[in-house]
Amino acid sequence: MTLSPDQRYQQVKQTLKRYGQEHLLSFYEDLSTDRQDALLQQLESQDWPQIMELIDSHVLHTPEMTLAQDIQPAPYYPLLPTADLQDKYRKARALGETLITEGKVAAFTVAGGQGTRLGWNGPKGTFPATPIKGKSLFEVFAEFILKTQEKYRATIPWYIMTSPINDGSSREFFEQHKFFGLDPANVTLFPQGTMPSLGLDGKLLLADKDKLAVNPDGHGGSLRALYLSGALEDMARRGVEQISYFQVDNPNVKCVDPLFIGLHALDSAQMSSKMLPKAHAQERVGNFCLLDGRVGVIEYSDMPAQLAEARAADGSLKFNAGSIAIHVIAVDFVRSLNESAGGRFALPFHRARKKVPYLDITSATHIDPEKPNAIKLEAFVFDALPLAKTSIILETDRVEEFAPIKNAEGNDSPATSKQLQSQRAARWLMQQGVDLPFNTAGEVEAIIELSHLTALEPADLSGLDLPQKIEPGSKLVL
Ligand code: UD1
Repeated sequence: MTLSPDQRYQQVKQTLKRYGQEHLLSFYEDLSTDRQDALLQQLESQDWPQIMELIDSHVLHTPEMTLAQDIQPAPYYPLLPTADLQDKYRKARALGETLITEGKVAAFTVAGGQGTRLGWNGPKGTFPATPIKGKSLFEVFAEFILKTQEKYRATIPWYIMTSPINDGSSREFFEQHKFFGLDPANVTLFPQGTMPSLGLDGKLLLADKDKLAVNPDGHGGSLRALYLSGALEDMARRGVEQISYFQVDNPNVKCVDPLFIGLHALDSAQMSSKMLPKAHAQERVGNFCLLDGRVGVIEYSDMPAQLAEARAADGSLKFNAGSIAIHVIAVDFVRSLNESAGGRFALPFHRARKKVPYLDITSATHIDPEKPNAIKLEAFVFDALPLAKTSIILETDRVEEFAPIKNAEGNDSPATSKQLQSQRAARWLMQQGVDLPFNTAGEVEAIIELSHLTALEPADLSGLDLPQKIEPGSKLVL
């Protein structure tokens, strides 16, 4: 039976009263019918019992950070296989290639972040990332996928999680650029979920008279959004079994890596990760650990200093495995995270105190707070790792696979990323016998842009018409 607007209003009011949140209807009478309807819909779609539990645990109280009793470094597959692993790596690569060829692998980019640190006024995927042509991050990934499809004569469906804030502009960008030559039928954009931003007194905030203040629910929300958006169903329909997960900020990422996918599948893992040896003890990356025997990540901000600084017998960092947020995740595992706990999503929320603009109820004015006034709740994708029955880690190389663009300047900025992109191209060219100019620190003294359409890995360059020598200070696009 459909309820009349008035019945719905009464029902919502009752619910809000029960939870002490009636202030959210303060401006209901001022609104047009459409806007009243929008507000009611938003309020009806909230999981109130869960929100109230979270207000109690994460706003009115601070959840106690319980680190595992036993924290050990997590084991990983080394970058270069030791003699006893060579055969396994060969088999793994072959299996990864077969899975790609058979259409069992999808690419998945999380691109819902707000890119505040970079100060880019648009979706981060539209940021001009490459050193000479200024191709966008989305284009860089599209080229990787195009070339992989060509190499393996396969289709690699690509899923991109946006946020409600940047979904429209991300779609427009893809349309403007004709999906960079990909078949639009194989590219799916969907927005991630949101959580209400919670005032420090435990009251939800209004962004406007007809709108709750909400925030994206973190990259962990991607595993929920895959399910709720129907993307997971779409994958199942296409026969996809494995999801190659990566962040939007890293142009050097191997969007689809046969060796990594193959090792994950050979070991029947449910969720696997790539790691980098940390540059120094306090590097701002998550730390892979064995937490009471299960693979997990302790975020840099939560890692106790004495663990971060601990040394192994040979003087190297005891906890040296840094997370670069690259994963392979089984489709079935994502489903189980959504269906096993009585339909409630399995990942926990983390709290962050933030400044959230809001509509003040008493004065009916918009306030841009100067101090943090709210708690944002976000889920982290790596919290799924300890829930996986099996989880493997593969070491990778910094230059080969990590050139993130996070900050406007300094570390992890467009400048450092472009240098790393050139550096990787130089390495690959050097392997083909090209003579390159390097300074004493080993950095290439030329700007080289190597498209994924030309090569996905060094071997793809063999047989191509390459220059014999690159002069210092020159610019080269390949
Ligand atoms: C993240 C990881 C860190 C890892 C580092 C590697 C966390 C908490 N930390 O740090 O362990 O070492 O990357 O580069 O994740 N995103 C969404 N929706 C959201 C929030 C984020 O899609 O609601 C996406 C962003 O678009 C981005 C990625 O997640 O692609 C990373 O988010 P960000 O908040 O920038 O994490 P970092 O601090 O860089």
